[in-house]
Amino acid sequence: THVVLEACIQCRYTDCVDVCPVDCFKKGPNFLVIDPDECIDCAVCIPECPVEAIVAEEDVPADQQHMIALNAELTKAWPTISRMESALPDADEWAKKTDKLQYLIK
Ligand code: F3S
Repeated sequence: THVVLEACIQCRYTDCVDVCPVDCFKKGPNFLVIDPDECIDCAVCIPECPVEAIVAEEDVPADQQHMIALNAELTKAWPTISRMESALPDADEWAKKTDKLQYLIK
């Protein structure tokens, strides 16, 4: 599967959603995740993300391993998003920040 990393939090640009052939993205208040049971590992979403928030599971950095379980957990709670939407307010400001997990709204 592919995994959405912390960089997406408070940005949620959604460019990734438009290219997904299987609608595997689930939308939360200020983040989105990939459903690991739906993702077919096509990787077309990776270059679409302006903040490089999507990686293959085997490429998740050591300090973001917790994001693998978080994607799997939140996908059960959140609805499918299949079309691009406006990014969150101040997404460009948030794009410069790191250590954003503390701002995640579930
Ligand atoms: Fe998030 Fe990047 Fe998609 S910021 S919504 S993973 S385009």
